[in-house]
Amino acid sequence: MILGFLGCGNISSVIVNYLIHSNLDIRPKYFFDKFTDKSKSLSSLVNGVVVKDFNRMLNKVDIVFEAASPSAIKEYGLNIVNSGKSLIIMSVGSLMDKNFREDLIQVAEKKNVKIYVPSGAVIGLDGIKSASIGNLYSVSLITRKPPKALNQNENIEKVVFEGKASEAIKKFPLNMNVAVSLSLVANKDIDVKIISDPSISQNIHQIDVKGDFGQFSTRISNSPCRSNPKTSLLAAYSAINLFEKLDKNLYIGV
Ligand SMILES: NC(=O)c1ccc[n+]([C@@H]2O[C@H](COP(=O)([O-])OP(=O)(O)OC[C@H]3O[C@@H](n4cnc5c(N)ncnc54)[C@H](O)[C@@H]3O)[C@@H](O)[C@H]2O)c1
Repeated sequence: MILGFLGCGNISSVIVNYLIHSNLDIRPKYFFDKFTDKSKSLSSLVNGVVVKDFNRMLNKVDIVFEAASPSAIKEYGLNIVNSGKSLIIMSVGSLMDKNFREDLIQVAEKKNVKIYVPSGAVIGLDGIKSASIGNLYSVSLITRKPPKALNQNENIEKVVFEGKASEAIKKFPLNMNVAVSLSLVANKDIDVKIISDPSISQNIHQIDVKGDFGQFSTRISNSPCRSNPKTSLLAAYSAINLFEKLDKNLYIGV
């Protein structure tokens, strides 16, 4: 399987470094980034091809891996699926826009291609998906991040947002992918609180779910990627987990 990258930052770099040493039948080959130094640097690890015009890469790859930004998905997503190529989306925030999401799904159905969204930096999506088969009464997320990750300067604990996920992603487009993933699987605009906390170095997500199934809570403390405090390492690992699934025949814990 030939893999093309849209975005060559932190997450893509973790993935390429993993694939180099894995025996998966997935070849990272084409690299596109709005900053050519980024695509050059990543492609040099695998002797890959630096792509200048994104759309020209589409007839050369089997699958596109996006780890760029919600705006990149808005710009290129429809072209990718319309060209009959599967798409892996990390910038799930882009899918909070219902019209865009429905357009993307419609084209994917027409072209019979798959769109994958890895679990990212959150745990428990499988449980919420199962729980949403019945009645979900409430789903809430409390996210704590160090001030730097939220572009805050103040050195005091502070609630920087309280409201619905759809608003949270507008205010923090690169920080609230977790809220969007939860909303999409729960099929509701979930309640979100974001706290800037100078006493922590990890990104913490507390999730509480209640429904006719009962209730559960999860709490995850994510170590950030070394070069991007906004991004949790687990997000990159969740994409690797997807690549492992695509290459195997037995799926456990889906
Ligand atoms: N689903 C999740 O739980 C989750 C978790 C962490 C990060 N993310 C998202 O994944 C994406 C990538 O994260 P990252 O840490 O690798 O970011 P990063 O900033 O390290 O890398 C992103 C790269 O994409 C490039 N880029 C951005 N917009 C582009 C565009 N329109 N066209 C071409 N290139 C573009 C940038 O130049 C940069 O090199 C972000 O949108 C982030 O919010 C999702």
